[in-house]
Amino acid sequence: MKATETLIIGGGVIGLSIAYELLKRGQPVHVLEQNRSGEGATRAAAGMLATDHELIPDLHQLAAASRQLYPHLVRELFNETGIDSGYKENPFRMKTADRDVTFASVGQLDPVQLTRSLRQAIVTRGGQIEEQTTVTGLLQSQATVSGVETTRGKRQARHVVIASGRGSEALLATSGVCIRTVPVKGECLAVRLPGHVLTETLFSDDVYLVPKFDGRIIIGATERPGDETTTVSVGGIAQLLQSAIRLFPAIEEAEIVQIWSGIRPQTADGLPYIGPVSGIERLFVATGHHRHGILLAPVTAALIADYVTGSVSTVESGAVALTESRRNKHGAHH
Ligand code: FAD
Ligand code: GLY
Repeated sequence: MKATETLIIGGGVIGLSIAYELLKRGQPVHVLEQNRSGEGATRAAAGMLATDHELIPDLHQLAAASRQLYPHLVRELFNETGIDSGYKENPFRMKTADRDVTFASVGQLDPVQLTRSLRQAIVTRGGQIEEQTTVTGLLQSQATVSGVETTRGKRQARHVVIASGRGSEALLATSGVCIRTVPVKGECLAVRLPGHVLTETLFSDDVYLVPKFDGRIIIGATERPGDETTTVSVGGIAQLLQSAIRLFPAIEEAEIVQIWSGIRPQTADGLPYIGPVSGIERLFVATGHHRHGILLAPVTAALIADYVTGSVSTVESGAVALTESRRNKHGAHH
């Protein structure tokens, strides 16, 4: 069997972004996805690209580097695919117990549209996306990864990137590699409020309202650590609605159009795993993006592509230093 240059395990926003970035650098890619790509945590996201909010300080530099990449990325994807990612910048009002401040312009997009455009661009550029194929283990020869074992047989590759969200931990464990992620379920709903225009994102301690480009307002999200079920609870939605009405009373008249949940992959220190896996040559990991995977996807893709191709990093040095030092302290290891 012919070996692909890079196999990417997981077709969420992280895996697809890495695939697209590698293709742009002339590297053939093959994405393996157990379900349908974009249907994991990525589909659940509100799509806020909020670099100053809900982020732990250690992530600020990485987030800012990623944020800068978005306007060009979505334009490029639109030019290649004709699919609009719903990227826009709108005012962002943060109304928490200790702050009431409006930021003039904060970015956001539609994660479903973004993954649609990534998928199409990948295929157009000759990348392969193989769905309904679960990776069950890694193939190795003398401490170097050589491919993966799947429910549809073996796939050989020169490099393997584990971008399997919450599934990354179990997959790496099959080769004795230890990372720790905690599932944090988030429940959300979308409403329509004809006759009202909410122009700003409203963000408080217990709820956020995000007006989307297609007229929906996303109300999110609960935080249920340790809960890996996909159900949506009455209690969770009731809590979101009560908080939303307090924050923006007009929402009481809105029509509910969608309800969903997703699992955020959180790490113990709140930082994602991005980089090589020590002890196994040519194996890389990109996971643990918790509440910020949409925001951090472009910089994650650039970093992993730098590692895979052995390039001098294209990412601002501070951001790289952050991931390097962190990887040395807590990174994936044998
Ligand atoms: P996923 O999207 O889960 O993708 C991983 C993929 O790997 C899945 O499709 C899965 O099926 C596949 N997989 C797993 N194991 C295997 C295997 N063994 N073989 C093959 N395939 C496998 N982030 C933001 O930046 N802004 C937001 O506003 C935002 N809002 C959010 C709101 C909610 C309610 C939630 C839940 C999350 C939110 N996030 C947000 C976070 C963001 O959604 C995640 O960080 C991001 O989607 C993670 O992407 P991923 O590709 O790592 O994971
Ligand atoms: N970033 C928003 C959320 O995870 O709910």
